[in-house]
Amino acid sequence: MSRLQAEHLYKVFGRRPDDAVRRLESGADRDELRADGTTAAVIDASFTVEPGQIFVVMGLSGSGKSTLLRMLNGLLEPTAGRVLFDGEDITHLTPRKLRDVRSKKISMVFQHFALFPHRSVLENAAYGLEVQGVPRKERERRATEALRLCGLEGWEKSWPDELSGGMQQRVGLARALATDADLLLMDESFSALDPLIRRDMQDQLLELQKTLQKTIVFITHDLNEAMRLGDQIAVMRDGRIVQIGSSEDILVRPANDYVASFIQDVDRSRVLTAGAVMEPVEGSADAVRAAAPATVGKDTPLVELFALCAAAEAPVAVADAAGEVVGQVTRTRLLASLGEEGGAAEAAPVPHQRDEAATEPAKQHDEADLKAAEPEDAKPGKDEKSAGDAKSDVKQDEKAVEGVKPDEGDADDAEEVPANA
Ligand SMILES: Nc1ncnc2c1ncn2[C@@H]1O[C@H](COP(=O)(O)OP(=O)(O)O)[C@@H](O)[C@H]1O
Ligand SMILES: [Mg+2]
Repeated sequence: MSRLQAEHLYKVFGRRPDDAVRRLESGADRDELRADGTTAAVIDASFTVEPGQIFVVMGLSGSGKSTLLRMLNGLLEPTAGRVLFDGEDITHLTPRKLRDVRSKKISMVFQHFALFPHRSVLENAAYGLEVQGVPRKERERRATEALRLCGLEGWEKSWPDELSGGMQQRVGLARALATDADLLLMDESFSALDPLIRRDMQDQLLELQKTLQKTIVFITHDLNEAMRLGDQIAVMRDGRIVQIGSSEDILVRPANDYVASFIQDVDRSRVLTAGAVMEPVEGSADAVRAAAPATVGKDTPLVELFALCAAAEAPVAVADAAGEVVGQVTRTRLLASLGEEGGAAEAAPVPHQRDEAATEPAKQHDEADLKAAEPEDAKPGKDEKSAGDAKSDVKQDEKAVEGVKPDEGDADDAEEVPANA
């Protein structure tokens, strides 16, 4: 069974949303609805995420990514369509059951880490467990382990403002991992980080994923990040998913000109693999293996074939997981595969990614969400507190935690943000 399944999800903001869905179903687009003051944030999104997969949703800002993500954890109710989590329709759970699922099975990591400034790193990492009511010893043990996994061993007693941005984001990640939730929802989690630190975080996530095998929905407006992380990538445009596939699928077979224009700048040699470009062996597999400068696995990126192809005339042999030679890559094939435009040559112009990043309105949404959701006296922020003040502040935070216990009425969104952000 798929861990997560979205079926024909729609989210329309504004008047008469059901009407709008009917119009969208019969082919209307965003712009037509916008004329009536209605925003179609997500239009007919369907996909499945398998256990252990990293599913990336990629698109320019405003394309509907965050709205889609919020429907996945029940924070926003779809205008139409369903979300199945382990086969269970979360769009029709009672509020209580939904909160339970959200606090135990789903963790969210935001772009702005939203740590509590006057709680230690350890207490921050343990926060989600505290909300779940896990006893102190147990939650400290689990939070310590999560911090260790995120490379923060030895920082448990520090305060968030003693940490760099990258380290703070690691605490956010540790907080999400500590709860043992299987599903991690990450909304532009690395987008605020400097490029080198961002790359580090991507590596760390991939490394963690090898052992933890979480199911992850990762949102980004950065195609390179999408390609590095995603087992599957959904490309969104104007509320619709325009293509779903592996990075290779998207690179080799872009669904339309829009996707093609996105992938122009991608370093194909790092995304394409020997298995994707290989040709059938000429003659016997044994002879090809014997003559080849090397035999490589199907998932070897092309960038690793250059030196081999330069060193010998004979093609590189490509073997499957069982070690059997199943194809070959010649010099000519290698060069040709790097030059292929993958179909749509006349790409439609799209706003440049970097410009979009600079004006990312999604940030504002998240910040607005945080503000709306925070318990008043637990507002993460930049107020300067010295370590000496900490004790009394912890008390305050505990009150704040009380305020967002899953069982308490309308604290619905409140538990969401600090528990996972
Ligand atoms: N609460 C809301 N009310 C009205 N419009 C919204 C709301 N949230 C998002 N939108 C609109 O929906 C569209 C998609 O937004 P969003 O999901 O935040 O995109 P992304 O995360 O891809 O930047 C945008 O046009 C945005 O302005
Ligand atoms: Mg967003």
